[in-house]
Amino acid sequence: MLSETMPYEKKFASVNGKQIAYVEEGSGDPIVLLHGNPTSSFLWRNVIPELVKSGRVIAPDLIGQGDSEKLPASDGPERYSLEVAYSYVDGLLETIGANQNVTLVIHDWGSAIGFLWAMRNAAAVKGVAYMEGIVKAVSWADWPEGAVGIFKGFRSEKGEDLILNRNMFIEAVLPTSVIRTLSETEMDAYRAPHPNPDDRQPLLNWPRQIPIDGEPKDVVALVDQYSAFMAASKTPKLFINADPGSILVGPQREFCRSWPNQQEVTVKGLHFIQEDSPFEIGQAVANWLKEI
Ligand code: BEZ
Repeated sequence: MLSETMPYEKKFASVNGKQIAYVEEGSGDPIVLLHGNPTSSFLWRNVIPELVKSGRVIAPDLIGQGDSEKLPASDGPERYSLEVAYSYVDGLLETIGANQNVTLVIHDWGSAIGFLWAMRNAAAVKGVAYMEGIVKAVSWADWPEGAVGIFKGFRSEKGEDLILNRNMFIEAVLPTSVIRTLSETEMDAYRAPHPNPDDRQPLLNWPRQIPIDGEPKDVVALVDQYSAFMAASKTPKLFINADPGSILVGPQREFCRSWPNQQEVTVKGLHFIQEDSPFEIGQAVANWLKEI
């Protein structure tokens, strides 16, 4: 039975003057679960039980998401950038002493943060398990056909209305990117951190940062760096392929399938695959960890 509510108490750590929330369960080497847009550590609630015997599971809420503190509007409309979100994850892992022998389990924008962390802290990484993530810069032709229109809208001047006012990332993209129907309790858990338009700024910034057709240039440069690193790195990897999947298909998938020292498993799901295959994901990571 899938848990519809969050069974874990959050802990908080002060990072760069902001309160960052995280779930921490189990003991041993850190297993860091990074969510993306528009989710929170809630996404991992049914994966965590499969991993608690494998190590110290840490599932942060990204800055401005879940129960983590929000950035002030005075930091500007593009305040939730990849580098800013990265700095809070990096700071959290340092603050709580979870930055050695790290296994990264990463999804969506959490994958970009995790791949960057793996590149910048290569000696501290035990392995990287990734799913429905950003493995390389893409073109619109590589983007899921059914999502091109809405993502072009998010990246246009209409994005503020679509995401800040109408909350479409949560109300439209999230439920249609899960095979089963999310319950109202589950939807409410994803809605709760973003009740007002001002609270939805990260949900708007993230789709505008996806490296598509060469824009935005700073993110393209970062993704180019980490994708070259991952393609050469001998760090153990687990690619959790989704069937039918959403964003990690086509040329992106062919590219990441070439990465060295990698195992692959397939689970059912669209984009938020933790909502369709949490046990399979947790067990695949636990089994792979026994081998590496
Ligand atoms: C995303 O990047 O968050 C996403 C992309 C396509 C469908 C669903 C989600």
